[in-house]
Amino acid sequence: MCGIVGYFGNRRADSILLQGLEKLEYRGYDSAGVSILDNDSLKIVKCKGRIKNLRDKLSKNPLNGTIGIGHTRWATHGEPSDLNAHPHTNEKATISVVHNGIIENYIHLKEWLCSHGYNFSTDTDTEVIPNLIDYYYNGSIIEAVIKATQKMEGSYAIGVISSYEPDKIVAVRKDSPLIIGAGKEEAFIASDVTAVLNYTRDVYYLDDKEFAIITKEGVEILSEEGETIEKELSHVTWNAEAAEKGGYKHFMLKEIHEQPKVIRDTMTSRIVLGEDINLDGITISNDEINNINKIYIVACGTAYHAGIVGKYVIEKLAKIPVEVDVASEFRYREPMINENTLMIVISQSGETADTLAALRLAKKNGARVIAITNVMGSTISREANDVFYTWAGPEIAVASTKAYVTQLIAIDTIALYLAKLKNSLSDAEIEEIKEEMLKLPEKAEKILESKEVIQKFAAENYMHKDMFFLGRGLDYAVAMEGSLKLKEISYIHSEAYPGGELKHGPIALIEDGTVVIVLATQEKVFDKMVSNIKEVVTRGGKILAFAPEGHTEIEKSVHSALYIPETLPILYPVISVIPLQLLSYYMATAKGCDVDKPRNLAKSVTVE
Ligand code: M6R
Repeated sequence: MCGIVGYFGNRRADSILLQGLEKLEYRGYDSAGVSILDNDSLKIVKCKGRIKNLRDKLSKNPLNGTIGIGHTRWATHGEPSDLNAHPHTNEKATISVVHNGIIENYIHLKEWLCSHGYNFSTDTDTEVIPNLIDYYYNGSIIEAVIKATQKMEGSYAIGVISSYEPDKIVAVRKDSPLIIGAGKEEAFIASDVTAVLNYTRDVYYLDDKEFAIITKEGVEILSEEGETIEKELSHVTWNAEAAEKGGYKHFMLKEIHEQPKVIRDTMTSRIVLGEDINLDGITISNDEINNINKIYIVACGTAYHAGIVGKYVIEKLAKIPVEVDVASEFRYREPMINENTLMIVISQSGETADTLAALRLAKKNGARVIAITNVMGSTISREANDVFYTWAGPEIAVASTKAYVTQLIAIDTIALYLAKLKNSLSDAEIEEIKEEMLKLPEKAEKILESKEVIQKFAAENYMHKDMFFLGRGLDYAVAMEGSLKLKEISYIHSEAYPGGELKHGPIALIEDGTVVIVLATQEKVFDKMVSNIKEVVTRGGKILAFAPEGHTEIEKSVHSALYIPETLPILYPVISVIPLQLLSYYMATAKGCDVDKPRNLAKSVTVE
């Protein structure tokens, strides 16, 4: 959470920093600020609220200078306020710092610094950083930053400028993302590449405890010991337009509509009829696969819901037992992992702190880890043994949509690959599934065309305070995702239940007018879902149901129905989630919510 940027070059830093922060605003948006070296003196402008407030403030107090750092905040320590907004400085205001992460031992450091005569004015953990650097400063800012980080525990990506050495930015990371953009006679630091794509697509991905010094001469990367590291420059394939709204009112709506394309892109070259599944980037050997006796899928939020679909699909196709866990739980229990365990971590951003910690735990215990991620160069992609990239392109809206469907495609593809090696499916069965997968983009397109039913239902029901989602098997997994989407962007309380659980408690909540969203795509349990529908209707519940085309009998029992183009049972999640995403979108817009930046949330959760 929080986004940081930095610029050094020949252009005005203020406008470049503001543009970068706008691109990173999805990472946090309760306050923002910039610090610029104006005639070698440190100037800071910061305020509570969105980047727009900062832009307004800067237009009244313009800052000259071609070197600066900026920050957009998601508060952890200290309420959102002008005072707690970054950048933070030492008392003499000679060293300025932006920080993403949490300094876990900040209380101890603060006490220690106070005992050495330092004073603090904010409630943040970050304020210890410029003061520690000040304490260690003895003529070299890079040496002082290295020494300061040796005292810091927790996670950090930081950018530092100082009036002592106004010709450089120093940056370092540990467990929080940071990239260095290398342009022509200019360079950038940023929490992710979207902030620099307008200027350069050449980036260095910093590893933990690597320090970057950005000067007019270029970028130098050093180890903790101060030795130069030769780092490879990577070229980003995303372009700046991919991170724009492209005429849509919100990023979320644009990303929902991009799903047919990203489903297709993620299958390209991997799923080809008549050819073996191609998992380039995954080097696990056939012997290793044959020795796997258990798979863990570990992730958070929407990615975790993709993992639940993964359990059903992998167990059905590849006949390997799968356990799915929320990363923040997995890392603190004692999971039974050994060299015969395969771990699949799923993370859109590739930076989620808990997922990363789970990955490290599994590797430490000898498991092989495959990462399914959308971001090349992300920490998870670099630490996993193998990577399956989802080709969803930049996902900017906080609510994940297109990343989820590509994660499902990734899971389906991996399941088929394992099934082939394990001989659990015949070649003909594999070909049939591939054939159906290749039709999914067209079917997703068709669903997007029938959004009027959803819009109408949302317009009639957005004022409800609670809603329920029901489904069985894979539909239950999708119901969980639909429920998360609704609550995170519309703030309507919602819960998802397996249809069979209804009678074990939740039915007590059904009363006249209670809205229940029912997924009934799974043929095997279709009649059971119809029974659940009856149970809800009998108690006054109002139902919006999703069933496969042809199942028009459902209309007799429900308030509204929408038909999903027919596909194989295991593939429905890829398309049945789309109307649920639209439903939450239209509910949220009807309520006037800020869809792309829901309250209290941040896109990438890089702290525990
Ligand atoms: O980047 P990741 O996929 O690791 O993120 C995981 C969750 O934080 C994320 O899916 C979150 O739940 C979204 N807000 C869901 O829309």
